[in-house]
Amino acid sequence: MTNLDTLFTPGLVAAQQPQWPDGPSGAPIREAVEQLKKLPPLVFAGECDNLKAKVAEAAAGRAFWLQGGDCAETFSAATADSIRNRIKTILQMAAVLQYASSLPVVKVGRMAGQFAKPRSNDTETRGDVTLPAYRGDAVNDIEFTPESRMPNPQRLVQVYNTSAATLNLVRAFTQGGFADLRQVHEWNKGFANDPRFSQRYEQMANEIGRALEFMKSAGVDPESFKKVDFYSSHEALILEYEKALTRIDSRTGYAYDVSGHFVWVGERTRQLDGAHMDFASKIQNPIGIKLGPKTTPEDALAMVAKLNPTNEPGRLTFITRMGAGLIREKLPALVEAVTKSGAIVLWVCDPMHGNTYEAPSGYKTRKFDDVLDEVRGFFEVHKKLGTHPGGIHIELTGDDVTECVGGGEQISEADLADRYETACDPRLNHTQSLELAFLVAEMLRDR
Ligand code: PEP
Ligand code: CO
Repeated sequence: MTNLDTLFTPGLVAAQQPQWPDGPSGAPIREAVEQLKKLPPLVFAGECDNLKAKVAEAAAGRAFWLQGGDCAETFSAATADSIRNRIKTILQMAAVLQYASSLPVVKVGRMAGQFAKPRSNDTETRGDVTLPAYRGDAVNDIEFTPESRMPNPQRLVQVYNTSAATLNLVRAFTQGGFADLRQVHEWNKGFANDPRFSQRYEQMANEIGRALEFMKSAGVDPESFKKVDFYSSHEALILEYEKALTRIDSRTGYAYDVSGHFVWVGERTRQLDGAHMDFASKIQNPIGIKLGPKTTPEDALAMVAKLNPTNEPGRLTFITRMGAGLIREKLPALVEAVTKSGAIVLWVCDPMHGNTYEAPSGYKTRKFDDVLDEVRGFFEVHKKLGTHPGGIHIELTGDDVTECVGGGEQISEADLADRYETACDPRLNHTQSLELAFLVAEMLRDR
């Protein structure tokens, strides 16, 4: 049986951690950790195992992974409308992808835990005022005042509570009939739809509806249409939080991070000898690692050796975020080296984080065409190498925001100011997400 007190290697460097008041082992953070340790798990270890089995299917090309949600969730946006719109958007994208490819789609939210952000700078300066950078609602508040930007460990308890409330609604929606495939029409309601994509969507929904009616008339009405498996995921960034929510599974005696089903380690915290990789190597959840364009084949192989020495199928996902301009150049060597080693990994494309730039107006944005082009490059590379383009990882919202430019609605840089609401990176809005799903569906069809 694993012992939680000795599980994690002490003294390792943890990048991107907040400067808690009274220091890293001061009373405020210790109190928050003690509170968290007493709280019940947010997810059940058995669900993590179920997801791991699905990751294995996707890695083998028998399923497709769809992961999406906010760059940074916020406490104030954890409302019923916002959560429902995100779930509906992901369900719609999944229906489009599944209908085109006839592959099961593994649905994973960047949701119910995605509250902490790595930052390039520890501080932010406006005019002649310099304050700590906003590190996500898990750490401090986005408002630019000294009080708001002061890290507060009690926020970690609020992360737990907000995640619990979000997950409760997610479970109600996905198990209580809302996600029933027969509702495929309903998911489109309430969105300010662009007629081009909503018509295409309606047409597909009609076809799905007819197929379901046909099956029903033939006496087939499976339970599996009524409920949907929807999993939670977030970046395992604030180690005090993740460790406090790591528990021993009574069935197996192993440690699971029960703050979410799937956790990933980001591009900025994946140092091989760092605390985040040590953490990831000690939990049994399916895990992801972000790989940017500087990753070498040797790095990738070292990560495989550290995180999945037994080559357990479904354990490890590589989420590549190369940028549209580099994916075709950088990805092949990584895929080739990993494939040659015999390691089983799921390859997922994050076409967001390598394509961010600052518009002249100062807004951080991404071009829809760059996002699309990176996914296209990802499919091309895998096709050439005979490997599986296993899924996509998208920053999106169900709301009608103007944060990424382009797409069918042709949002321009000048439009960004209309509805720019993200607490961190720019997200695809509902229409852009649906449009991307239709375009990726075409790639999946001729893979
Ligand atoms: C993220 O996924 O929000 C993120 C910070 O990504 P990366 O670690 O790839 O930069
Ligand atoms: Co982001």
